[in-house]
Amino acid sequence: MDITLKPPNSLSRPLFVPKKLLMGPGPTNSSPRVLKAMGLPILGHMHEECINVMDEIKEGLQFVFQTKNPVTLAISSSGHGGMEAAMCNLIEPGDTVLIAVNGIWGERASDIAHRYGAKVEILKKSPGKTFTVDELEKSIIKYKPILFFLTQGESSTGVYQALDGFGEICRRNNCLFVVDTVASLGAVPVFTDLWKIDIVYSGSQKVLGAPPGLAPISFSSQALNKVYARKSPISVFYWDITKLGNYWGCFGEARMYHHTISCSLLYGLREGLAELVEEGLPNSWKRHKDCANRLYEGINKIGLKLYVENENCRLPTVTTIRSPPEINTKHVSKYAMERYNVEISGGLGPSAGLVMRIGLMGYNANFSNVDTVLDVLQEAMEYAKHNKSKL
Ligand code: GLV
Repeated sequence: MDITLKPPNSLSRPLFVPKKLLMGPGPTNSSPRVLKAMGLPILGHMHEECINVMDEIKEGLQFVFQTKNPVTLAISSSGHGGMEAAMCNLIEPGDTVLIAVNGIWGERASDIAHRYGAKVEILKKSPGKTFTVDELEKSIIKYKPILFFLTQGESSTGVYQALDGFGEICRRNNCLFVVDTVASLGAVPVFTDLWKIDIVYSGSQKVLGAPPGLAPISFSSQALNKVYARKSPISVFYWDITKLGNYWGCFGEARMYHHTISCSLLYGLREGLAELVEEGLPNSWKRHKDCANRLYEGINKIGLKLYVENENCRLPTVTTIRSPPEINTKHVSKYAMERYNVEISGGLGPSAGLVMRIGLMGYNANFSNVDTVLDVLQEAMEYAKHNKSKL
């Protein structure tokens, strides 16, 4: 048989990957240790040594999530897979769910819940604002949902949501508490067991300092009971926690093949977690807070305004800056990237066009990067102000 398609010329050129400073909302740069680990030899997904790495990751995740849940693992996916898995395992068609929406992640959770056949009720706040336990209690009594979804780190708006107290109300009302910590885990406290969180998930590519591709997740026994009591099968094989939990050795039974996990991503996450364990959680929380405070001061000095007014509700990992009306902030991001290979992001979802976003996560959260991004931001703003037609 003849080969009719020509080989692509693009693949005879060397691979080109520039070095960028990723100061957006994630992914963030990985440390040399993480990058080196990812170049280690490929192992089979059922090989003993690969399983050992998975076991170490499991322990690391139990530590960062502060949970004793045996079903704690990492799904082969970006953080979105954590959201999918939470909704897919818990929801049966016709179940009522309550979603807190104050940014893109609540909106997305509600979209996903609809797709699994839930009746979705929304607890809404304007972008930039947070939720109270009282508001939850009123809505829970009104709607009697099977689950309540809340985002700890709303990366679209830069909002930090305090979590304590919500789990108590959920448990008292037979409602499972699901929390998105994709943009926050490792930079702020997450006490999964203490705060009675039933499913918590995150992403490898933010504070944990690994590349995108793994979504840490943990299920409480209450969440598992809901899964076991389902009348209908879990609709997506890939997200099925009973199969994933078996593959990750969470049930004390023989491991069965579920899917082919990327050992290279596992090595990266294992080393990212090891770095966090070595630093210690309180030190990491403090480092992120100190960096964020230095960034706020610099932003103030430049004459810009923070989007989140209440300082207790500012997410240290993602800072949102109000876009000044006289400047097209797309030009700021373009200049920063083209001139310095520094990423400064625009808004997302409800904050699109309203803010610029600067990320400080994991390996990138240090004073030197804060000072660099402030210098680049100031120069890029000046350039965008005076060179509107050139960009
Ligand atoms: C992704 O997490 C983003 O906030 O852009």
